[in-house]
Amino acid sequence: MPANTRIERVLLTEEAIRSRVAELVGEIEADLGDGDLVIVALLKGSVVFLSDLVRGFDRPVAFDFVGVASYGDATAPGEALTFTKELSVDIAGRDVLLVDDILDTGRTMCRVISYLRSFGPASLHVCVLLDKRARRQAPIEPDYRGFEIADEFVVGYGMDFADQFRNLPYVGILARGG
Ligand code: IMP
Ligand code: MG
Repeated sequence: MPANTRIERVLLTEEAIRSRVAELVGEIEADLGDGDLVIVALLKGSVVFLSDLVRGFDRPVAFDFVGVASYGDATAPGEALTFTKELSVDIAGRDVLLVDDILDTGRTMCRVISYLRSFGPASLHVCVLLDKRARRQAPIEPDYRGFEIADEFVVGYGMDFADQFRNLPYVGILARGG
């Protein structure tokens, strides 16, 4: 069965995402001035968002990736992070924008923020495409958010269910039963 027949509803169309991403770039550019910006994106869900975001900037932007192993709800706040990829650029003294697809409980993001702070960036801001605010457990508010969404499981535009659906150009809600 083609993957898209398993999508019950389109939540955010390609066009809605495109125009909101352009607005986000404008907000970030206006705030961050002309400093040396490094974007750190979390694998793998943020890759599609990142690729649209970076191409909107009118200034040089460096980017790198951090991969964090996820074990579903088993990741408790006190646990050490297990990396699938560690940072490989020097962010000391630089302006860093941490980018992810979706902020859910916020636990992953909080721990990645502590990790990045240990390298001494000049500033650290957080940008997410989607914010499921109602599910937040960790004390974190993104500096830039594309859309606030309800507590529904979404796929597409980089986001997956069992590593599928990342390539959909829109954000959709999966039909019941996957
Ligand atoms: P957190 O630590 O609970 O905030 O987890 C955030 C991560 O969970 C995101 O980077 C996504 O990879 C994943 N996630 C949370 N909600 C969804 C969803 O609705 N669809 C796909 N992935 C999700
Ligand atoms: Mg993710």
